[in-house]
Amino acid sequence: MGKPLELKDQFGRVFPYLRLSITEACNFRCQYCLPNGFQKPCDMNFLRRNEIINLIKAFAQLGTKKIRLTGGEPTIRNDLVEIIGAIREIKTIETIALTTNGYKLEHQAKNLIDAGLNAINVSIDSLNADKFKIITGHDKLQSILNGIFEVAKAKHIKIKTNSVLLKGINDDELPNILRVIQNNNITMRFIELMRTGDNQDYFEKHHVSTNLMLKHIEEMGFERISRDKVAGPASEYAHEDYKGKIGIIAPYSKDFCSSCNRLRISARGELKLCLFGDGGLDLRPYLQSENQIEELKFQILKALKFKLPTHNLAGGYTGSTKHLAQIGG
Ligand code: 5AD
Ligand code: SF4
Repeated sequence: MGKPLELKDQFGRVFPYLRLSITEACNFRCQYCLPNGFQKPCDMNFLRRNEIINLIKAFAQLGTKKIRLTGGEPTIRNDLVEIIGAIREIKTIETIALTTNGYKLEHQAKNLIDAGLNAINVSIDSLNADKFKIITGHDKLQSILNGIFEVAKAKHIKIKTNSVLLKGINDDELPNILRVIQNNNITMRFIELMRTGDNQDYFEKHHVSTNLMLKHIEEMGFERISRDKVAGPASEYAHEDYKGKIGIIAPYSKDFCSSCNRLRISARGELKLCLFGDGGLDLRPYLQSENQIEELKFQILKALKFKLPTHNLAGGYTGSTKHLAQIGG
């Protein structure tokens, strides 16, 4: 028997983690992402459930252990529960995670958990209701928090929140975050604003490094904890007086890409080797039947040879992604 096929690139990185966008549509208008709301493209021909399952089966056979469903806003799809249930049937997938803006979470939490969800990331850019509304266009903070506490009733679900750190808007909210994590086992993460094709002016105005935040929490006695193999891109910090943790995602830091362990698929079935890369490989022709799984695996492995060592964000290069709703962050 030959060597088992494995998702490994020429820099020795392995990819047990797949981020799969299941729709480009989003109902929020986050200032840094879709300030004018989602503009309907000429077709909404996103991956169908059978295509999604064929895709995940191929990745599972190549060693993928964790799937994150993302968007756009993945809960807009009315077959989300069925998708999660079908992934659950693929036994080697250990973790099914969801990234959501949480707008329906209060009502959906139980169904998602019953279907087999293991982990959830919810965007909460501010814990101040007025600011939340200004950033996202929706007065939904309380409902989203209720949703999170609903999920927290199921003790085995990992809960994280994401706040994009925005200069002059929410960069004074560490005390709010500390209040929440004091008694709740949630990881609250700050993401450094990333420049995309569409948000150049906003980026110039509101980008701020996470360094100061990091310095603050380290001075308070928070200590960095080690990452596991399928962890996301955050560095996480814990403190014995707090039940929850703080995470920092700093895509501009110099070693960010060396620990890359994830690949992405767009809602149209394109394999994206990097969030800030160009184009993608159209896998859709190979997703139409279970009989194509060997060919699909071959195409994925072939493409992986072209994964670059790092993005070139520092050089101002954002790749072909106009905003992260296109590919799910
Ligand atoms: N920079 C940083 N984070 C972003 N997100 C969306 N667009 C950007 C950006 N330009 C975040 C969302 C969500 C996560 C998936 O990505 O707020 O929490
Ligand atoms: Fe906001 Fe995410 Fe929707 Fe973009 S895709 S507008 S970041 S909720």
